[in-house]
Amino acid sequence: MINIGPYQLDGQAVLAPMAGITDQPFRQVCRRMGAAMVTAEMSTSKADLRQTSKSQLRLADAADSEPRVIQIVGTDPAEMAIAARYHVDAGAQIVDINMGCPAKKVCKKLAGSALMKKPSLVADILKQVVDSVDVPVTLKMRTGWDLENRNAVQIARMAEDIGIQSLAVHGRSRACRFNGMAEYDTIAEVVAAVNIPVFANGDIDSGQNAQKVLNHTAASGVMIGRAAQGRPWIFAEINQYLSPSLKKIAKSNTKTPWHFTTEQKNLLLEHLELIHRYYGRFETENFLSKSIKQSKINKDRGVDLAVKISRKHVCWYFNQMVQYASNLKQKHTSDFSVATSSCLVADSQAIKTIEIAKKQFNRLLVAKDQLQFLKQFFSETNLTEDIAA
Ligand SMILES: Cc1cc2nc3c(=O)[nH]c(=O)nc-3n(C[C@H](O)[C@H](O)[C@H](O)COP(=O)(O)O)c2cc1C
Repeated sequence: MINIGPYQLDGQAVLAPMAGITDQPFRQVCRRMGAAMVTAEMSTSKADLRQTSKSQLRLADAADSEPRVIQIVGTDPAEMAIAARYHVDAGAQIVDINMGCPAKKVCKKLAGSALMKKPSLVADILKQVVDSVDVPVTLKMRTGWDLENRNAVQIARMAEDIGIQSLAVHGRSRACRFNGMAEYDTIAEVVAAVNIPVFANGDIDSGQNAQKVLNHTAASGVMIGRAAQGRPWIFAEINQYLSPSLKKIAKSNTKTPWHFTTEQKNLLLEHLELIHRYYGRFETENFLSKSIKQSKINKDRGVDLAVKISRKHVCWYFNQMVQYASNLKQKHTSDFSVATSSCLVADSQAIKTIEIAKKQFNRLLVAKDQLQFLKQFFSETNLTEDIAA
């Protein structure tokens, strides 16, 4: 059982914070699918940006299940401490500090993963944030600045001494960005060096993979990022796999066909409704006018924010279906038997149908049309099917 301060998590797989992805509706859906903890998208510590719609959308939300975790990013210790207090007053129950983000916009100000280059500044930030709030403070980091400077162990020990209550370590250095494969040796060293819970993060995309990483690192849990995009049920798959009594079922489910199960289809529809409800109150241009290229605003003028946000999430679900279908097509191609030739046709047809649906969905301008379209898509195609356990 993983404890972070007074909070006892009900599983080992948690959702990674991802700007532009882990918004409130997505967090709700992941929690429902078994994520033991979900973290909001990073929020800047800059006080003058706090009232923007974007920052307001990143506050702890009453609809989030507990513990409500927000993440702050910044470089000035006093500013970070004030930001932490602000979020706790707004309802956050855990404050996470971002030292994992490699984005240029963030790193050029010596924030995010760039901070790993300055352990003394890190210590200052951690101390001031821990002292400023009476909720658990956690830290998300990478293995180091670059491959020659993997100082995650040093920072982890320091963080524990200061009072940080759990760590998430992405198995890449800042310089690696998202290139190559994550490595788990440094994460194992961090686990061995501290007594607080550590979440292993990076490239974990299945129950089997999660088990391997847990075995290799002895981490308390795993943190899942990109693999949850369009596939929030990955948490249920991982939970099943990690639970010995359910392992048999989980193994049989690893042969998922390109169909969505009825449960997955219903979840997608529910996710869409949550997005429409959550963003429905915001006007696109008020919200995104500064952060989106002018040409894009012009192209989408008049389209609700809810509709725009729905497009990207629904496309991720569609992409997952295409991925399933492509995997199956590859398998059927290598089988070479007459029996599989009809499967191959079906696989190709499924890919084509989904790609067309994606294009059609992206042309819709109104929330209710999006919902109607998806319902019709699922009822008119044979792309949902329950998997026999
Ligand atoms: C689009 C995107 C946005 C991200 N935003 C954040 C963020 O706001 N805060 C953070 O600490 N890490 C952020 N990350 C890093 C992820 O939390 C995670 O560490 C990384 O994706 C590796 O995990 P994965 O291989 O499971 O995706 C982001 C990653 C992606 C792909």
